Amino acid sequence: MDHEVYEQLKAAREPLLLWYDTNQRELPWRGNVSPYETWISEIMLQQTRVEAVKEYYRRFLERFPDIPTLAAADRDEVYCLWQGLGYYRRADMLHKAAKIVTEQYGGVLPGDHRSLLSLPGIGRYTAGAIASIGFGLPYPAVDGNVLRVIMRLLGRRDDIAEERLKTTVEQWLKEIYPRDRAGDFTQALMELGAIVCVPNGAPLCEECPWRKLCCCNAEGNWQEIPVKSGKKSRKIEEKTVFLLRYDNAVALHRRDREGLLANLWEFPNALGHWTEQEVIEHFPGAKIKKVGKAKHVFTHIEWHMIGYEIWFRQKKKPLDLIWVEKTDLEQYAIPAAFKAFKKAL
Ligand code: ADE
Repeated sequence: MDHEVYEQLKAAREPLLLWYDTNQRELPWRGNVSPYETWISEIMLQQTRVEAVKEYYRRFLERFPDIPTLAAADRDEVYCLWQGLGYYRRADMLHKAAKIVTEQYGGVLPGDHRSLLSLPGIGRYTAGAIASIGFGLPYPAVDGNVLRVIMRLLGRRDDIAEERLKTTVEQWLKEIYPRDRAGDFTQALMELGAIVCVPNGAPLCEECPWRKLCCCNAEGNWQEIPVKSGKKSRKIEEKTVFLLRYDNAVALHRRDREGLLANLWEFPNALGHWTEQEVIEHFPGAKIKKVGKAKHVFTHIEWHMIGYEIWFRQKKKPLDLIWVEKTDLEQYAIPAAFKAFKKAL
């Protein structure tokens, strides 16, 4: 590694740990937690805000206090507890990994980085986080937040969209990881990115333990760093959502086993924005009411939805659908994308 980079990172280590000791937020997954708890928190925190995770984390661990309990659970129940967190593939992989850990490692999470990496849903970032926070081993966990704080500290304009940069930064950090406080160092880097060197808007440089060391602070050019190339724009999909009603029941459809929101339940829907006339013609004899619109943003796609409530006069058994009593709806994992329509019921 470049000697200058090494010196800059080494000089940044102690100030960061000192700052973390007095400035860290109190979070449920900090303090005395097991590697399993670290694992759950790190999976939940991917792409999801800390505030949103807290309650899910508590409920999940209450229901699945250890890995064998999680492994033995029904997949649908795991989904149900995940309902609203989004990115459901995480829940599926977590469940699969729990089964492997139970079968191959006696229900105890393996402590070495390589075994962690072999488990479904555990990539380099999560393996580093569990190894360092859960097991105290000197492995970094580099995500977009860590890249931002390091690029700013060093004043570097490497493209953070390049996957290779993560490997490079991992190697740099590995050289200076504190052997006695590996977990704290991982969390301190995350904390700095979360509350000081924030992702949107101006960083709070006055409060930063690196203010005297940081190249970006010296240059006043935080707006230029990090550099990120070629953001692809999201595809927009128009949809019409049908709230099919009869008495106190509503119809649900199970999504495909593959792809976006796999296996979850949804209100039946179709592509395009249907006019009221088209809906009337499609459901002859039913009473139709418009129920507003909603937008949901996924990583690569946006759904722009409109909805209709469709009251049947007889309870038909539509193909591929099930009727669920409104009061039983909570037993089905319906993604947050449909929240506005669920509320309209
Ligand atoms: N984001 C990802 N991991 C985190 C952690 N351990 N604490 C706070 N925010 C995080």
